[in-house]
Amino acid sequence: MLRTRFTEKFGVEHPIVQGGMMWVGRAELVAAVANAGGLGFITALTQPTPDDLRREIARTRELTDKPFGVNVTILPSINPPPYAEYVQAIIDSGVKIVETAGSNPEPFLPYYKDAGIKVLHKCTSVRHALKAERIGVDGVSIDGFECAGHPGEDDVPGLVLIPAAARELSIPMIASGGIADARGLVAALALGADGVNMGTRFLCTQESSIDQKVKEKIVANSERDTQLIFRTMHNTARVADNEISRKVVEIEKAGGTFDDVRDLVAGARGRRVFEDGDLDAGIWSVGLCQGLIHDIPTCAELIGRMVTEAEELITARLAETVVVG
Ligand SMILES: Cc1cc2nc3c(=O)[nH]c(=O)nc-3n(C[C@H](O)[C@H](O)[C@H](O)COP(=O)(O)O)c2cc1C
Repeated sequence: MLRTRFTEKFGVEHPIVQGGMMWVGRAELVAAVANAGGLGFITALTQPTPDDLRREIARTRELTDKPFGVNVTILPSINPPPYAEYVQAIIDSGVKIVETAGSNPEPFLPYYKDAGIKVLHKCTSVRHALKAERIGVDGVSIDGFECAGHPGEDDVPGLVLIPAAARELSIPMIASGGIADARGLVAALALGADGVNMGTRFLCTQESSIDQKVKEKIVANSERDTQLIFRTMHNTARVADNEISRKVVEIEKAGGTFDDVRDLVAGARGRRVFEDGDLDAGIWSVGLCQGLIHDIPTCAELIGRMVTEAEELITARLAETVVVG
C-alpha cells in the first residue's frame, strides 16, 4: 500500500488521480477510477447545464460507492457559463472533493468550506501553488510543461517544478504532467510529491468515452507528436500534432491573431475528434507521455499494475541498487 499525506487527507486508497478532462470526465470513467481505489473527477463543464451535472453525479453514484470529485475549470470566456450554479449543483449533490483549475479559486472557496468540501487546486507554477495554499485550499496539483492542455508560460518540466514546489509547500501536493506508469509515480514520490495526477493515460483506457481510433492514435504516437498552440497569445495549450494544430502554429508564426484561428480551434471541432474519431477535425489535448503509452487497459488494470510495480520498484530495484567501486 502506498499511503501518503494525500491518501490520508482526501480519503482514497491509492495516490493516483484522474484529473478533469473536457468531454471525457464522465460517470463511467470516474466510477471506474474510484472503484479501482483512485480519485476520479467528473468535468463539470462537459455537462451542458447545472441540472445535467446533478444527473451525472447521481449516475456516478449508481456506479460506485467510493469517493469521487468534480472538476471546475474557470477560464476567460466571452460567454461565461453560470459557474455559481454549477458550484451549487456540486454542493447540493453532496460531493465532498472539488478540483479547481484555470483561475484563482478564492471567490468560491467559502462556499466549498461551508459545505465541508475539500479543494485540490490545479496550477502550473510554485508561486500559484503558494498562493492557493495561503488562501486555504487543502492540496495542490501542479502541472509541469509535459502536460496535456494548459502548461502555463514558464516552460518548467516536472523534474524541476515538483521538487521546487515541495521545498516551499506544507499542504499535500500532487505531481501532474508526463506521468503514465509506475516509474512516473515512484519518481514523483521521490521528487517530493504525495501522489500523481494523470490525464492522457486515463484518456486512453477502456472506460474513457472517446472513439477507439483516438485511443489507437495515442498508442501509435510518440512523445514528439504534440504541438504547442496559442504561444503567441500567452495562453499555451499542448495538443496532438495534426493538420489543424500545425495550421494554427503556422498562422501564429505568420503574425495571425485569435480571430484568424477561431474557427480552427472551436470546441465543437475538438469534440468531433473524440466523438467521431475524425483525427483531423479539430484540436484535442494530449501530453508528451503518449510516447509512454502502449496499450488500452481498464482503469482497474492500469491502477492495479501501477501500484504493484511501484511497490516492486521501491522495495526491490531501488532498494537493491548499490554503488560499485
Ligand atoms: C482531453 C483532455 C482534456 C482536458 N481538459 C481539462 C479541463 O477541462 N480542465 C482541467 O483542469 N484540466 C484538463 N485537462 C488536463 C488534465 O486534467 C491533466 O492536468 C493533464 O492531462 C496532466 O498531464 P498528462 O496528460 O501528461 O497526464 C485535460 C487533459 C486532456 C488530455
